[in-house]
Amino acid sequence: MISPQLAQNTFYCRATRVTRRQEKAQSFTIEAHMMQPDPKLFRNALGTFATGVTIVTTRDGDGHDVGLTASSFNSVSLNPPMILWSLAKDSSNIEAFRNARSFAVHVLAAEQDALSARFARKGTDRFAGVELERGSDGIPLLPGCTARFECRTAFQHEGGDHVIFVGEVVAFRHSKRPPLVFHGGEYRLLIKKESQSITSEPPAPGERGPDDLLYLISRAYHQLRGGGLQERRRRGWSEAEYSAIGQLSMEGDLSLGRLDELVAYRGHRATPEVINALEKRGLVGICRRDDAMDSMISLTPAGRKAFIEVIAFTKAAEADALTEFEFDEFLILKQLLQRLVRKTNKSSRQLH
Ligand SMILES: Cc1cc2nc3c(=O)[nH]c(=O)nc-3n(C[C@H](O)[C@H](O)[C@H](O)COP(=O)(O)O)c2cc1C
Repeated sequence: MISPQLAQNTFYCRATRVTRRQEKAQSFTIEAHMMQPDPKLFRNALGTFATGVTIVTTRDGDGHDVGLTASSFNSVSLNPPMILWSLAKDSSNIEAFRNARSFAVHVLAAEQDALSARFARKGTDRFAGVELERGSDGIPLLPGCTARFECRTAFQHEGGDHVIFVGEVVAFRHSKRPPLVFHGGEYRLLIKKESQSITSEPPAPGERGPDDLLYLISRAYHQLRGGGLQERRRRGWSEAEYSAIGQLSMEGDLSLGRLDELVAYRGHRATPEVINALEKRGLVGICRRDDAMDSMISLTPAGRKAFIEVIAFTKAAEADALTEFEFDEFLILKQLLQRLVRKTNKSSRQLH
């Protein structure tokens, strides 16, 4: 009979052997990659390099507009001004670009990800519905991009399964539109990296640090709502009343039960007392049912007007704060908060 001690040791030895074998296999695999690159792994490794996204356009010999999404764009020379990009030899557009005297590179803006996807898809009319301008040789120029470079084809180089096109820039323009970013096979947005910690204020004794997530969220929230809060207080609205009015304004009519559930996410309760008080002031109407929680609550026109007036104060503070942000930073901020709300939604439901 094997003693538990022995069994444990045997398991331990086996497990160690397995781990060593895995390690050996992994290092062997890496050596093998170096000798005979796995295209997928190679592509993944290249994908760690963040790039912008461009659409390169030209006209083929029959005068048809052609274009495709390309992230292989790069600068080459300042004087003379030159850029490059590379095109797969199996692209249906290879002959068009090989024969073209000129082409245009469009650096896509943050909101042009759908256009990028369209110009990478086969079998679609990529230019359908796009209002084009025309460059030299009638090449199609796309609107709304972050930058645009009109080029004369200067050189073509063989680059394995790609052809590298070097263009001499004959005209260019650029705007302040934030660019679209491509990394790891996904579209991304650009954010400026702060050189310092988010806040330089030291934490108060016994408080969370200044970089603490909850601290930052709640501080931003309290600071942002300052103006609106004063206005609400002037009107004598409690926090619960304000939450209930805000929820009704967003969702339309709600049963008291559902309204209470939604208001609870913001840490308040929409009790019958809260709603009755609002009704007395003419801000909500109640369609009463036997079970009070089934009663339907709606905002009156006076309630809606009052809410818009209060929210104008908050919006003004929001607009003022957002002057600090680039457009894409604001998008990122909202996206991350939305993701946080989605992620925490389930656990918050369990609390109420
Ligand atoms: C973000 C992104 C970047 C791309 N970059 C390139 C590139 O630099 N060169 C290239 O040949 N294909 C690139 N492609 C793929 C082409 O857009 C796509 O394969 C091509 O348009 C296929 O159609 P075609 O055969 O009509 O050219 C990229 C695709 C995407 C989505």
